[in-house]
Amino acid sequence: MTALDTHTVVAVIGAGAMGAGIAQVAAQAGHPVLLHDMRPGAAQAAIEGLGVQLGKRVDQGKLSAQQRDATLARLHAVQALEELADAGLVIEAIVENLQAKRELFARLEAICPAGCVLASNTSSLSITRIAAGLARPERFLGVHFFNPAPVMALVEIVSGLATAPEVAASLHATAKAWGKAPVHASSTPGFIVNRVARPFYAESLRLLQEGAADCVTLDALMRDAGGFRMGAFELTDLIGHDVNYAVTCSVFEAYYGDMRFQPSLIQAALVDAGRLGRKTGQGFYDYGPAAARPVVSEVRSGVRVDECVVEGDLGVAQSLLARIEAQGIKVSRAPSRVKPAPAAMPGSADLFGRGVIRVGDAVLALSDGRLASQRARDDGLQNLVLFDLALDYATASRIAISWSADTTTAARDQAVALLQAAGLVVSPLADLPGLLVLRTVAMLANEAADAVLNGVASAADVDLAMRKGVNYPQGPLAWADAIGLPGVLAVLDNLQASYGESRYRPSLLIRRAVAEGGALHD
Ligand code: NAI
Repeated sequence: MTALDTHTVVAVIGAGAMGAGIAQVAAQAGHPVLLHDMRPGAAQAAIEGLGVQLGKRVDQGKLSAQQRDATLARLHAVQALEELADAGLVIEAIVENLQAKRELFARLEAICPAGCVLASNTSSLSITRIAAGLARPERFLGVHFFNPAPVMALVEIVSGLATAPEVAASLHATAKAWGKAPVHASSTPGFIVNRVARPFYAESLRLLQEGAADCVTLDALMRDAGGFRMGAFELTDLIGHDVNYAVTCSVFEAYYGDMRFQPSLIQAALVDAGRLGRKTGQGFYDYGPAAARPVVSEVRSGVRVDECVVEGDLGVAQSLLARIEAQGIKVSRAPSRVKPAPAAMPGSADLFGRGVIRVGDAVLALSDGRLASQRARDDGLQNLVLFDLALDYATASRIAISWSADTTTAARDQAVALLQAAGLVVSPLADLPGLLVLRTVAMLANEAADAVLNGVASAADVDLAMRKGVNYPQGPLAWADAIGLPGVLAVLDNLQASYGESRYRPSLLIRRAVAEGGALHD
């Protein structure tokens, strides 16, 4: 399917943050753009604002003066909706209100030619619902940009029940021609990104509530071990808790109260208190001038370690060994002595090759979603110290650990010393199932898998959406494949068994892929 010709007139309605950005993208791609806003003068003011911004880019040498002038020459403010009669594509970015959008599109259908494509930039309303009542719902779809539209590559091309496949294909090709990374999605609550991202916030919030560690430590782990640009607390402080909490609530309600999307009481409390994040000067963190700088928790050890024994295969954590050996620590290999747990923990038998590192009296192992104390008892291990998932064990700078109740301080010091020697800063977490990065990534992959299973989008598009829409270091499905799907399934099974909640139920797609010996990513 071919992209819309650059002669096609693109109309953008709503000259706020999103509309102005979308107008800029379309004009930069070569289209004549008509910008309309119900507030008199707002569209003209937005174009003047774009002129200032593009001027700054010229000053920085990122854009030529010629390119700026050409872009601005293509942007026209229009006062009356009737002036959009030549448009071949209309993108609406007005207030997030179903009735307002429906009324607008009904008027547009009367003004614009029959072949015109009508699109909404809505992030939370159903495309199918907006389209109901339109005369030509097959020419209506969602074209969901991310903020700021000129910077963020992702565009979700959202098809409602009536959207014609060729219309979605044409807009996909058009977004690509505009230099964007488009993905197809069906109109379901949250589309792709606002659905699949929920566990990123939810697991950190839950761990905070359950006393795993403080915000600053959890955020540092998400960055330094997980490879995410920001942790959940600093990110929600930036987004604004009113906005982030509202998205979670709307997805939760739209999925009929599915506990996977359950909002957090501690975030609700922040909203109730008006602590909305950076914009109010306080959220999880205090942004006031006198605020103390929060300190990340660490455990340090002064013990010297010369050797360790690796039993079995460490799986995804294998590259940790090269870091340990590079410090001159002798690493001996031995077959696994860990007895498989009884079938009470389904899936555990396949987990991560059952590898452990014995150092002094301590046994170090990657978490499998069980509590450290539970696993120590199940597997007959003493002084068990669990470590968390890292995006890349060869380069991570920090790692979380937790330990079983019977672990002596001396044994824990030996485990910490080994990780420290490998160049990792060690942060402690209370003994909670799945630590932080592991359970967050397992739940992201679970949500992504369920979105694929339910026909929301393809696996490739879900992964692309999460990389380009929220900058995840890996697509959750490809990440789960890299960790090892039997391990990810075991983590989910163990989380579900530990909490006894449907929230952690594994997606059938993961269970099926494990049974078939397949992968999640195409
Ligand atoms: P905004 O409040 O900055 O701008 C909305 C503009 O639309 C205002 O200038 C307003 O005067 C105008 N407007 C309202 N009703 C109108 C009508 N009936 N006809 C013409 N103009 C009208 O809002 P923002 O943030 O730009 O969002 C716009 C849309 O984009 C919403 O649907 C929102 O959900 C969606 N969106 C927002 C994102 C964000 O991060 N802000 C990200 C992705 C989508």
